[in-house]
Amino acid sequence: MVEKTWGVGTGLSSAMGQALMRTLDPSWRMLGISRQADRETASNVQWVRGDLADREERWIANLLKAITARQIVQLMGVVHAAGVVFADDMQRTTRDEIRRTLDINLAAAFRLLQVVRPWLAPGASVVLVSSVDALMQSEEGPAAIYGAAKAGLVGMARQLAAEWGSLGIRVNVVLPGALSSGMGPNDEVGERIKSRIALGRLGEPSEVAQVISFLLGSQSAYVTGAAIPVDGGLNLHY
Ligand SMILES: NC(=O)c1ccc[n+]([C@@H]2O[C@H](COP(=O)([O-])OP(=O)(O)OC[C@H]3O[C@@H](n4cnc5c(N)ncnc54)[C@H](OP(=O)(O)O)[C@@H]3O)[C@@H](O)[C@H]2O)c1
Repeated sequence: MVEKTWGVGTGLSSAMGQALMRTLDPSWRMLGISRQADRETASNVQWVRGDLADREERWIANLLKAITARQIVQLMGVVHAAGVVFADDMQRTTRDEIRRTLDINLAAAFRLLQVVRPWLAPGASVVLVSSVDALMQSEEGPAAIYGAAKAGLVGMARQLAAEWGSLGIRVNVVLPGALSSGMGPNDEVGERIKSRIALGRLGEPSEVAQVISFLLGSQSAYVTGAAIPVDGGLNLHY
């Protein structure tokens, strides 16, 4: 019997997350935090109910219960792919919108890593999903608080890569560009963006999943603290 490699992830119900679960080596099993824990998806995900915006953080108690119930002794991977986009003029952004955007995109990653740290073994790999919006405004207009949250993930990944390097735990961050799914651009904006993408097309969620899978696995054993754009060369020319 193949030994299971346990990991934990958020955002695994998205097209990107599902593509990741199809891409990973068959030994992987992920505890996937989702607001909808009764969904039918890839069999290598075991869902844990949780809303990352919950101020009482019930998702943490549920996750700890799931780890204990399965007698998991070590976690070899963590993926934070959950996200919500919030795009509006800065002056119209409310306190609640600021809080929710930072909580789900950024603070949840920090809390998740704090909570699972005792289970992270040497060789474990953490992958945070940021966005090119961390660095620049998209064709769709202002999204300062989303950009701030996504930029925060880059800082967090690089700080933690330094903090945890001596423990043999790697931390990397990917910055997807405009994708064809989920919170990607609508058709009209997508057409306009293509002219600024060197490869001339939107990205597929599976193409980001391939990079996450590489970062989780041993083929990237000497890669840590990297912020990797997966954007088809967005804005290489103007
Ligand atoms: N699509 C793009 O063009 C693009 C570009 C750059 C970066 N990204 C990033 O890539 C990641 C995936 O994006 P996507 O477009 O595939 O997203 P999506 O289809 O909108 O899916 C969002 C994911 O986030 C999870 N999520 C949202 N709010 C949550 C909450 N309150 N509690 C728990 N989970 C929550 C959802 O999980 P449940 O519904 O299961 O709870 C879902 O799996 C995000 O981090 C996004 O910022 C996407």
